[in-house]
Amino acid sequence: MKATYLDSAVGQYVLAHTTPPDDLLERLAVETRAITGGHAGMQISPEQGRFMTMIAQMSGAANIVEVGTFTGYSSICLARGMAPGGRMTCFDVSEEWTSIARRYWAEAGVADRIELVLGPAAETLTRFPADPPIDLAFIDADKPGYPVYYELVMARLAPGGVILVDNTLRDGNVADPTNDAASTVVMRAFNDLVRGDARVTSVLLPIADGLTLIRKN
Ligand SMILES: C[S@@+](CC[C@H](N)C(=O)[O-])C[C@H]1O[C@@H](n2cnc3c(N)ncnc32)[C@H](O)[C@@H]1O
Repeated sequence: MKATYLDSAVGQYVLAHTTPPDDLLERLAVETRAITGGHAGMQISPEQGRFMTMIAQMSGAANIVEVGTFTGYSSICLARGMAPGGRMTCFDVSEEWTSIARRYWAEAGVADRIELVLGPAAETLTRFPADPPIDLAFIDADKPGYPVYYELVMARLAPGGVILVDNTLRDGNVADPTNDAASTVVMRAFNDLVRGDARVTSVLLPIADGLTLIRKN
């Protein structure tokens, strides 16, 4: 369970009352654990994936960007909710991990709608066009890079466009004033940045490890 700050019975109840992932996503999760070992914890959780598909569907997003793709779980969830004719661009640094994503994109029937851009996102995103504007973005790469990715996406985001940002609760540590671990301090600063940004309306959702939903005004 990713919502480690929740009572585990509540976490199990949440999972049991959310439409479960299909066989393809289940197999991707199993293969990710087998191949990447401890890194598999980076993958988003089933209930977050279900939520993200619904956000994509409800927003009618046709131009989607993902920063941090890993083995592809979240990208498949977003691509499945994308509007007909939509396009998704995924940014990551790992050829090895995204080669798994490519296989599952093909199996999920979304490979022809996804472009993968390899390289540090602080550089590759600067070359991403602002036209057509981004409708929906998911930020889930290295946490110190979040403020840079946020600004680069915001500069290309349509009015009314949405950014989802992962791990914003950091196991609940951000709310513990005695926790001054570097990863906590970085995320607190990012959360404060979003909260103080007059360009957006946001809500920090206690789903999985914390998911902030940000809408450009
Ligand atoms: C938390 S994982 C993403 C998990 C993915 N969203 C999922 O649901 O499976 C973070 C990813 O960010 C990538 N990453 C790390 N630093 C990066 C950078 N500077 N630019 C682009 N991607 C980066 C890593 O290679 C890794 O695949």
